[in-house]
Amino acid sequence: TASGRPVVLIADKLAPSTVEALGGDVEVQWVDGPDRPKLLEAVVDADALLVRSATTVDAEVLDAGKNLKIIARAGVGLDNVDVAAATERGVMVVNAPTSNIHSAAEHAVALMMAAARQVPAADATLKDKTWKRSSFTGVELFDKTVGVVGLGRIGQLAAARLGAFETHLLAYDPYVSAARAAQLGIELVSLEELLERSDFITVHLPKTAETAGLIGADELALTKKGVIIVNAARGGLIDEAALAEAIKSGHVRAAALDVFDTEPCTDSPLFDLDEVVVTPHLGASTAEAQDRAGTDVAKSVQLALSGQFVPDA
Ligand code: MLT
Repeated sequence: TASGRPVVLIADKLAPSTVEALGGDVEVQWVDGPDRPKLLEAVVDADALLVRSATTVDAEVLDAGKNLKIIARAGVGLDNVDVAAATERGVMVVNAPTSNIHSAAEHAVALMMAAARQVPAADATLKDKTWKRSSFTGVELFDKTVGVVGLGRIGQLAAARLGAFETHLLAYDPYVSAARAAQLGIELVSLEELLERSDFITVHLPKTAETAGLIGADELALTKKGVIIVNAARGGLIDEAALAEAIKSGHVRAAALDVFDTEPCTDSPLFDLDEVVVTPHLGASTAEAQDRAGTDVAKSVQLALSGQFVPDA
């Protein structure tokens, strides 16, 4: 560019601390990443591309960005970045794998409690100036069996927090040993057993070919009547249409979702159900997590652009 400094293109809204952490040796440019034509135009000059989850970085973007050296995902999930296509083109991909894990776990717990006590529906009736106290009888977490699907960083934090409610914890994770789970006070079981025994289920998995559609109609049929299901991980891990049916039939008591198969999502059969609590992908949306995500990836970008070794986060 005219300035002679490497160009860092920011394509999603990131915390202001990100720009500070990038330092003065780069030229920062912004683009609205979901606006595809604008992204393809802006990426031509970029040495680094910073994204959150709304921008898709695929082969087309990588081909347009001939100068790209690094793609940085200010968050955990890499499902919006074609890592293989980047690697083929010699472009490094980094993320901020611990930046928002506490925020994500806290949001999953908040959603579970909101679903158990129908907080949003009760809130809506009162703000509608009606006092419907007898319409809302919830269930306790105390002494219940909670199944955690995916015992990675976020799943472990969610389990520890849910354990504080004196629950019995089950987990399914083919990559974790029973001994490690036992250390955490969690009984490791098969997915089938988790579905059969849990009163509450929360999923904490990345979206991959292996996990997409993991919980569909057949799996929901295995669950206990009255189960409450939470997904603050990735849309599509639980089949949305099947979940809506299971709630309508009265088999699933309630559900809470922060993520959807297609995002942004403004229309879903789930939105018509009072038993469903929804938020628009807010798991990582806290001041602290966004600060960390932005500054963590900014450091990696700075190192990569100055030709230094970028350590694993
Ligand atoms: C993540 O994978 O980190 C979350 O989806 C949050 C985000 O998109 O920022």
